Amino acid sequence: MLRTTLAVLALSAAGAAYAQDAEVSVAKGERISRIGGCHDCHTAGFNEAGGTIDPATALKGSPVGFQGPWGTTYASNLRMKAREHTEDDFVAYIAALETRPPMPWFNLHYLDETEVRSLHQYIISLGEPGEPTPAYVPPGQPPQSPFIVFAPPTMPGS
Ligand code: HEC
Repeated sequence: MLRTTLAVLALSAAGAAYAQDAEVSVAKGERISRIGGCHDCHTAGFNEAGGTIDPATALKGSPVGFQGPWGTTYASNLRMKAREHTEDDFVAYIAALETRPPMPWFNLHYLDETEVRSLHQYIISLGEPGEPTPAYVPPGQPPQSPFIVFAPPTMPGS
């Protein structure tokens, strides 16, 4: 009897946690953006500010590129990107997303649907989209804006 009661209690606790998880909200989207590290690259000045999100620049991308064997990439303006998709489309877009480095696109495939919907709502809630970041520069071409070299100096063969 006691065992059954405990089992029922455990089940309802799990049920409560699931109900909370199924929520779609701006607050949940902000949390995903933080633990997913999106601001680390897509919000200029975020790391320098010790992790404080500046509402003026949040997820508008960065003008400082990452250069490696793939060329030079710039963390995109996610406010503009989110506006290209409805919330429904954004779910399929993120599930199929594949980019150049150092964007960890493969990790985004582990987000569940409520997390991606929440992320979309959060990005839209940030307000005016701002300007695009510099365009991708192929290998061997000189970038016109600052960049970080993303390669070990002792790379074999270099
Ligand atoms: C280590 C840095 C880094 C992190 C962390 C990161 N990104 Fe990116 N992201 C980039 C870069 C650089 C690009 C551009 C890649 C390219 O040009 O192919 C990019 C591209 C993207 C794109 C494609 C945009 C386009 O214009 O095609 C999306 C969407 C995106 N990131 C979303 C996210 C989200 C959401 C998170 C957090 C869960 C995140 N990124 C975390 C660096 C990062």
